[in-house]
Amino acid sequence: MKQLSLSAMLVLMLSVLSACNKSDSSAESAPGGETKAAATQSVEFVTTQDGKPLVIDAALFDTPAAKEFFATGKNSYVGNADAIAKGKKVFQLYSCTQCHGPEAKGQVGPGLVGPDYKYPKDMTNKGMFETVWHGTNGGMGAKGIGLMDPTDPKNGITPDELLKVIAWIRSMSSVTGNE
Ligand code: HEC
Repeated sequence: MKQLSLSAMLVLMLSVLSACNKSDSSAESAPGGETKAAATQSVEFVTTQDGKPLVIDAALFDTPAAKEFFATGKNSYVGNADAIAKGKKVFQLYSCTQCHGPEAKGQVGPGLVGPDYKYPKDMTNKGMFETVWHGTNGGMGAKGIGLMDPTDPKNGITPDELLKVIAWIRSMSSVTGNE
């Protein structure tokens, strides 16, 4: 009896250890440095579905705010009244409203104001960006440019537009996402 519980504990400890190793190595293996466009990337995007690397064309980060986000992961539109007003319109334009409600408080889809997110990474602007850009496994398709309609690389939300949408969502939230 004693032996059994000991070996059960050993198995548990080993699996915890190997899980730690896994997340360590993925955090340290920074590919980087492969983008040719003007924007410098130091943020590594990952998908919300499975945490795998998410490559987004650097050329799409074509405004000062988008470039800053690409470099730092910070959304400089948070707190900016013009960007917030635009973000609300973009939210309607891409039909986010239909599933999340006109005030993003939830409808068919969940409320987006937080802080109790299904995907806790949505507490950060980088995390929410990834969730919207590439979608989730649980019922939301990708919205990123070329992803809403993969046959048309011009269809879909741009990084700059998405940062404005996120700024609008944060304007109703207790977090800025840049913490
Ligand atoms: C067709 C309906 C639909 C549309 C359109 C849609 N969503 Fe969603 N969204 C969902 C559903 C359903 C979920 C929950 C997904 C899950 O549980 O995996 C979700 C989840 C999310 C989440 C994660 C919330 C959390 O709790 O972690 C964010 C952020 C989000 N949507 C933002 C947006 C934005 C921004 C747009 C517009 C660009 C948008 N959604 C358009 C249905 C939609």
